[in-house]
Amino acid sequence: MTDLAEFVRGLPKAELHLHLEGTLEPELKFRLARRNGVELPERTVEEVVRTYDFHDLTSFLQVYYPAMRVLRQPQDFHELAYEYLLRAHAQGVRHVEMFFDPQAHTGRGVPFDTVIGGYRSAIVRARREVGISAELILCFLRDYSAEFAMATLMEALPYRDWIIGVGLDSDERGHPPSKFADVFARARQEGFQLTMHCDIDQQDSIEHIRQALEDIGVDRLDHGTNIVEDERLVELAASKGIALTCCPVSNSFVTTQMKSAEITGLLQRGLTVTVNSDDPAYFGGYVADNYLALAEHAGLEIDRLAELARNSFRASWITSARLAGYLAEVDEYVARYTAA
Ligand code: ADE
Ligand code: ZN
Repeated sequence: MTDLAEFVRGLPKAELHLHLEGTLEPELKFRLARRNGVELPERTVEEVVRTYDFHDLTSFLQVYYPAMRVLRQPQDFHELAYEYLLRAHAQGVRHVEMFFDPQAHTGRGVPFDTVIGGYRSAIVRARREVGISAELILCFLRDYSAEFAMATLMEALPYRDWIIGVGLDSDERGHPPSKFADVFARARQEGFQLTMHCDIDQQDSIEHIRQALEDIGVDRLDHGTNIVEDERLVELAASKGIALTCCPVSNSFVTTQMKSAEITGLLQRGLTVTVNSDDPAYFGGYVADNYLALAEHAGLEIDRLAELARNSFRASWITSARLAGYLAEVDEYVARYTAA
């Protein structure tokens, strides 16, 4: 391991843009398929990986959703989240706010309680065993109707103590934030934090970012890097203290580039930019790998990497007392590393 890789791996950090269903590694997929009697078209890990031939968001989602068929029982969801949490812990993650896509499961007959029950028990277990802290963000699938999203929000209310916020993901084309204005207004009333995907280089990226910031009033933007194209929106996000959850490795799969100049430019301007892994099993990089890829591509040194880690805690939905503790941990880590 290089010095920088070692530094990044040990750097205390939060992860804020991570889809639990995007952590389904091929080995686990085979194990769950066997357990649940699901026939898979591929026979080997290599054959599965060969299907990861993404060139945009749509081609990624066409592989991502069908893979979820192997997730059926609470234990399956538990193992998915537990294995991710151990991997994140090994990459220096202290706290994670993780997306899950309940409609991708309830839509094929798996009860909401099965999904969230499995995820929740994994969170409790990982916290007890390795000390990692984790929260859930319920994502609505934007290519389904607003009515289905509202029904999902209602279904989630009995579990509100297990869900920190709501988000919006899936295929963005033709599905603007405004479609879900009532759902997000109700979620806000119910006390949830709000975030939303504004994916990279979409047809209406700028208008979607504007709606998310001005009409919906989100607390964070997921991706949102195209904001660089509109100075007014950059200033608005800066003045409102809206953080961006960027995912460099994912960007290089769903577009042609990592968007490193845009990400580091926004960081330079003082926006609360964070680095995350998105769907690491599919894009081949967990969170430390994303820090390292960005560092290598943009020539970032440890001071900038430490700032990204501080931002990850600043942008998270933890209490100010916990934030102060994590920031002190980052400072101590950097001081120890530079003294050595
Ligand atoms: N679902 C899982 N990953 C996603 C992404 N990067 N964008 C939109 N929807 C997603
Ligand atoms: Zn995402």
